[in-house]
Amino acid sequence: MSKVIVLTGAAGLIGRTFSEYLLTKDYRLVLADINVDALRQQSESLSLKGFSQHIICEFDATDKLSVESLLVSAIDAFGQVNGLINNIYPRNREYGRSLFEVSYDSFTENVSLNLGGYFLCSQVFAKHFMDHGGGSMVNVASIYGSVAPKFEIYQNTHMTMPVEYSVIKSGVIHLTRYFARYLAGHEVRVNSLSPGGIIDGQPDSFLQAYRSKTLNKGMLDAQDLCGAMEFLVSDRSEYVNGQDLIVDDGFTL
Ligand SMILES: NC(=O)c1ccc[n+]([C@@H]2O[C@H](COP(=O)([O-])OP(=O)(O)OC[C@H]3O[C@@H](n4cnc5c(N)ncnc54)[C@H](O)[C@@H]3O)[C@@H](O)[C@H]2O)c1
Repeated sequence: MSKVIVLTGAAGLIGRTFSEYLLTKDYRLVLADINVDALRQQSESLSLKGFSQHIICEFDATDKLSVESLLVSAIDAFGQVNGLINNIYPRNREYGRSLFEVSYDSFTENVSLNLGGYFLCSQVFAKHFMDHGGGSMVNVASIYGSVAPKFEIYQNTHMTMPVEYSVIKSGVIHLTRYFARYLAGHEVRVNSLSPGGIIDGQPDSFLQAYRSKTLNKGMLDAQDLCGAMEFLVSDRSEYVNGQDLIVDDGFTL
């Protein structure tokens, strides 16, 4: 019987790509997101392509009851859960400001929504995996959890790499290690995947500046992450535990 994976942030840029890829690899999926309209559209489009082995679930990663009911829905639908991919990207209205414009309240709110959401989903699913023979958890982190931003690539754009993001993603990478170690002996693996930047309509000047820091392609397509994600969530990485797998075309070298 194929494995059942719960994918959070499933209706977003990377989540949509992971969904289709994992369905082509015969996983059964619980597509979970706070944006139920986007989830419905995604589900219709997947079903039209013949990918029926999925359900959608509206949930809020920052609300414990909602995360618990996501787990219950997954078990009700498929009778088991084998993996969790944490992939949400909550941000408040002020998110994206440059360093000296970030207020204390906004900083803490973004950390709380994003890192807090990863923590809550990890906590609820880790307990289930501990009590039910194991599981694989993969946290989508980022290169900016490991290295400081190269600010020069943002020059002449309206973009920056927000300070909260660096803090959140380094937190996600260490949360991964903490959970992996804490769950020793319970057959629960916890790893993170750290993508480089993903192409999503950024200006050409930025794409070029970013590309000059990489080895071949530059910014990646979400599709470029899929093989690494499937490796981490599957048994093929059976003894990979507590690790961060960077997929960034050499940006962090
Ligand atoms: N896009 C990139 O360049 C990039 C690069 C590296 C890492 N990442 C990481 O990949 C992950 C996905 O990013 P993305 O670019 O697909 O983002 P996205 O904004 O396109 O998708 C994120 C999804 O999370 C959902 N979400 C937000 N708050 C939620 C909540 N409280 N509960 C449930 N769902 C919630 C949103 O509705 C959205 O569908 C994020 O963790 C992001 O940090 C993205």
